[in-house]
Amino acid sequence: MRKQLEEIQKSALETIRSANLAADLESLRVKYLGKKGALTAVLKQMGKLSAEERPVIGQLANAVREELTEAIARQSKLLEQAAMEAKLAAEVVDVTIPGTPVTVGHRHPMSLVLEEAEDIFIGMGFQIVEGPEVELADYNFTRLNTPEGHPARDWQDTFYLTEDGSVLLRTQTSPVQVHVMEQQKPPIRIVSPGRVYRKDEVDATHSPMFHQIEGLVVDKGITMADLKGTLEVFVQRLYGAGTKIRFRPHHFPFTEPSCEVDVQCFECQGAGCRVCKGEGWIELLGAGMVHPKVLEGCGIDTDLYSGFAFGIGVERMTMRRFSISDLRLIFENDMRFLSQF
Ligand code: DAH
Repeated sequence: MRKQLEEIQKSALETIRSANLAADLESLRVKYLGKKGALTAVLKQMGKLSAEERPVIGQLANAVREELTEAIARQSKLLEQAAMEAKLAAEVVDVTIPGTPVTVGHRHPMSLVLEEAEDIFIGMGFQIVEGPEVELADYNFTRLNTPEGHPARDWQDTFYLTEDGSVLLRTQTSPVQVHVMEQQKPPIRIVSPGRVYRKDEVDATHSPMFHQIEGLVVDKGITMADLKGTLEVFVQRLYGAGTKIRFRPHHFPFTEPSCEVDVQCFECQGAGCRVCKGEGWIELLGAGMVHPKVLEGCGIDTDLYSGFAFGIGVERMTMRRFSISDLRLIFENDMRFLSQF
């Protein structure tokens, strides 16, 4: 029996040490140490032994069991380590490889100019307010003294949202004037930036969606001189002290008198080119003294109060500010263009 035990010990140790898989180790444990294993089989024959032999063989059998148990544990640890090393080797990370560069974005030129403009107006004591882009025709037209039948209400020019023409995408930010005057008593001093929509063909200076900044001042004793002074300060702050602007008489239904304000063309400095369509000047905004009908329609006493209003084209303002010669560039989102600002 001693010999049997020694043989088991020898062959078991050999096979355990050469096992490559955890599963193999487990079947070896069953094969040698399990209930039906080789060692147990030997121990079952202990009864045949003499009283003197029994403790000696018993001790030996225990020693073999311990040794094999230990050998299996050791081999199992070795296999685990090897597996971990193989995994680490396979997943090696080269920390010296340059990383994927994270490109930092920045504001769109339109947002930059809008923010500059807002800052200038805030500096002059204006409040920033917002108005709805989906608007009632009543606010967009009627209450701005633009009755039914007025050419500005043409179905060809306006995106109506209902068959009866009562709801539309606002064609101008001017309806914000009415919203503000309904909610606030004078003195009023607001600007309202936002999107407006018209059925315009896309070209170098037109887009069916564009931005305006509406301005409205209502107080006692407001005159055209206040309008002129405000716009001159605004343009000089935005474009620099030497910037030339001109006021031209014009007509808007909701102002009387009305004017348009142009800035000298940045492309040709007034000589006339494609950008200014040969004019030398670029139209920047419409303005005027708020029509008494508009004020009275909002319950403002025209014996006490008067006001001026203006509507600036933000795309044109941006083009002038950054010398961009084609409006389409602003909306195409070409990174080669946008990353210049
Ligand atoms: N809403 C006009 C437009 O889109 C621009 C405008 C003109 C706004 C005169 C005004 C104004 O507030 O007083 O053409």
